Amino acid sequence: MPHQQHDETWKKLHSHIDEWVTVSKTHTSEGHVASYIPELANASGDILGLCIIDIEGQTILSGDSNFRFTLQSISKVFSLILALMDNGEDVVFSKVGMEPTGDDFNSMLKLELIEPGIPFNPLINAGAIAISSLIAGNSTDEQVERILHFFRDIADNPSLSINQNVFKSESDTAHRNRSLAYFLKDNGVLDKEVDDVLRVYFSHCSIEVNCTDLARMALVLAHNGVDPIRKQRLIPRRFVQIAKTFMFTCGMYNASGEFAMNVGLPAKSGVSGSILTMVPGQYGIGIVGPALNRKGNSTAGVHLLGILSQEFDWSMF
Ligand code: DON
Repeated sequence: MPHQQHDETWKKLHSHIDEWVTVSKTHTSEGHVASYIPELANASGDILGLCIIDIEGQTILSGDSNFRFTLQSISKVFSLILALMDNGEDVVFSKVGMEPTGDDFNSMLKLELIEPGIPFNPLINAGAIAISSLIAGNSTDEQVERILHFFRDIADNPSLSINQNVFKSESDTAHRNRSLAYFLKDNGVLDKEVDDVLRVYFSHCSIEVNCTDLARMALVLAHNGVDPIRKQRLIPRRFVQIAKTFMFTCGMYNASGEFAMNVGLPAKSGVSGSILTMVPGQYGIGIVGPALNRKGNSTAGVHLLGILSQEFDWSMF
C-alpha cells in the first residue's frame, strides 16, 4: 500500500474509530452470550473491543480492548496450520475436506450422510477435532505444549496460556463434541483415543488472549506467514494460503457467504465473540463482542467490520 494511502487510512481510523465502535456497540443487544460452555456465560453482553495493527506495529485500540477472552474456534486456524507444518497437505486432506457445509458449526449431519464420512472442512468442530489428532508429539501433554509454543510465537507473546476454568467447563459439558469425536473414531478418522484428542482440542480453544494478540496473529496471516514487525517467516506461504482460503469460505460458518458479501475479508470467529480478520498485505485486526447471533458470530463485531469495510473499500472484490 502506498505510504500516503496508509497515512490517510490511519488518520481517518484514529479520528472515527471510537464513534464507529459506539454505533456498533448498540448491536450487542441483538445477540446473546454463549452459554453452552457455562464459563463463557460470565462475559458481559455489552462489550465491544477492537485492535488494528499495521506493518510497523502501530496499534489502534478502541472500546473494551482490554477484555480477555478465549480463542475458541479462532484457534482452529492455527492448529490447522501447525498440523500442515507437521504432516503436509496430503495427510491433512486425507482427514478433512475443503468444502463449506452450510450447517451449524457443531453439526454431525453430513458425517453420516455423505461418504466417506470425513469432516467437510477443518474449521467446523468435527474437522478441528480431526486436526487436533494430527498435531505431532509423543504424548497429549507434548501436543498441547507444542500448540502453546506455536501460538505464542505467532502472537509474539510468550505469556499466552490456557484458561483452565474455560477448559474444564468445556470438557465437563462437551457432550456434542464427544459424540462427534466418537463418530469420527468409528469412521476411522481418528487414530488416537477420543479423550486424548479432545483434550488437545479443548486446550487450544481455551487459550486466553486479548484483541491485541488477535490482531498480532492476524498480521502474520495478512503478510502470508512473515511477521513484518520481527521480519521473520513463521509459516510457509502455501499453508497461509490454505488457511486464508478456509477462513474466507468457512470462517464465519454458515454465515460465511453473507460476511463475504458485506465485508469481503478472510475472517474467523469464535463463540467467545471474537473475530480475527485482516486486510491482506496490510493490517491485522482483532475484535471481541461476546453477544452472538444465531450462527455463533459476534453481532456487534460483524456490524463494525461492515462499517470499516465500506469506509475503506476493504472488500477483496
Ligand atoms: O467446540 C466448541 O464448541 C468450542 N470450543 C468452539 C466453537 C466455536 O467457537 C464456534 N464459533 N463460532
